Amino acid sequence: MSLFSLISGKRMKAFEGIPGPKPAFPLGNLGGFLWDMMIEGKQPWEICAAYGEEFGGLTVIWFGPFMPVLVLNDAELIGEVLVERPRDFYKQVPVSALMPVVTKNNPFVLNGKPWRQAREHDPFSADWFPDWLASRAPVIAEYAAERAEALAQAGQVDLMKTFQKLTFDIFSMAVFGRELPRGRYRDFIRMANSGSLRIKTSLPRLPPPLNPFFYLSRARWQGFFQELVDEARVNPDPKATDLVQVTLRQGTPLTGKQLALAMGNIYFGGAFSAASAMVTNLYLLSQDDTALKKVREQLDPMMKEPLTNEALTSCDELDRALWESLRLLAPVPFYGRNSVRGCEVKLGDRMVPSNTTIFISNWRLQRDGGYWADGLSYRPQRWDGDTMETNPIGSGWFFPFGRGERMCMGRFFAMLTMKASLAAFWSKLDVKITGAYKQGYYFGVMMPRGLKAVFSKR
Ligand code: HEM
Repeated sequence: MSLFSLISGKRMKAFEGIPGPKPAFPLGNLGGFLWDMMIEGKQPWEICAAYGEEFGGLTVIWFGPFMPVLVLNDAELIGEVLVERPRDFYKQVPVSALMPVVTKNNPFVLNGKPWRQAREHDPFSADWFPDWLASRAPVIAEYAAERAEALAQAGQVDLMKTFQKLTFDIFSMAVFGRELPRGRYRDFIRMANSGSLRIKTSLPRLPPPLNPFFYLSRARWQGFFQELVDEARVNPDPKATDLVQVTLRQGTPLTGKQLALAMGNIYFGGAFSAASAMVTNLYLLSQDDTALKKVREQLDPMMKEPLTNEALTSCDELDRALWESLRLLAPVPFYGRNSVRGCEVKLGDRMVPSNTTIFISNWRLQRDGGYWADGLSYRPQRWDGDTMETNPIGSGWFFPFGRGERMCMGRFFAMLTMKASLAAFWSKLDVKITGAYKQGYYFGVMMPRGLKAVFSKR
């Protein structure tokens, strides 16, 4: 018997028969995990995919003798956790990491009844929301077209950095019909930097941030949205189309403070992941002349008129190009759950001890050559025919926005925003991308790094 199993004792017995790398005293597999990240430069989703490759859909690894982690690379097991029996599992990581950045009423960090209530009460869940969202398509496309003009004059830019700010502005136009003051972006990034560091520690409990500037930024950030809500309450405008005015006009169970916080949380929910997805789309589609030609053949006649939501919806070539980039290089490839506290829960054909950490990744499943023909290549045409119906967003082998009842709340907003922006960019611009493609892990998101781009007018 090894020293490691002697110390972890009974705990190890509960995971007997689950394959995984041999844990060594004292860190178990944590040393190897950290080595792969820090020395080999691998990302957590790549490490999880490699476990899947070597050990199959269910792997156990040990972060020290007292913390077993189950790594899932199996569509059915992930389906059990996220879709079939989500109440047997809860979100622990990165709740404590995110808490000081986003706020208590954000569904992302809640569990149980408060989660259900926050999700139900959020404007994104309202029955009028889809119509409001549809009305945003022309606003986004027009704004993105203006920014495209500026990009064509900008010379060489850092692609990710540029799109990070651009996505922030596009979100602001979509939600508020205007850009936010410059300082709010700085506040947003300062808070996100702090949150990102905290998420990387993967610890279940963390002390509050020490940096006083974090709190200054947070006060300014939250104060800004509070002012918007206060202003809209004092001066309701029946013609206004921004989300604050529309939400108040339609009626909401949220207090003014909760509504203000919900507005700020939209950016943390999706500005990084949507920026990552758009950069990935530019990077991949710019290398596929045939697919790009098809996208443009549909876009060109359409973009001569102000873009409507109906026209955008009909642009299936852009859908294929975007779905394929979300499949191959998913912006959110790694997240977690814990089995509930206080009792064992079923997973596959075995029982899992109370409060076991579970890593979930779509990286391997979405790229698996056994399921997707030529899975590591970018091939938008694979979504022809019935592939979209067979593999809708949130299904077993394609879940860039998660699965089940906790699936991304912003997915319709994100898809419309990205599609309307990309429609404007691809119809207006040619792009030449250089640099070595790398990945970073920032604020829980896979961020493409190392790419430079020169945009020019077509
Ligand atoms: C391309 C863009 C986006 C991607 C790839 C993405 C991905 C995801 C994923 C994978 C989850 C599930 C996490 C889990 O189950 O633990 C999630 C949840 C969530 N997302 Fe997104 N997201 C995007 C955009 C957005 C936007 C724009 C918002 C803004 C409102 C947003 C808000 C949320 C919220 C609130 C949750 C938590 C839902 C819950 O727990 O009930 N996301 N997202």
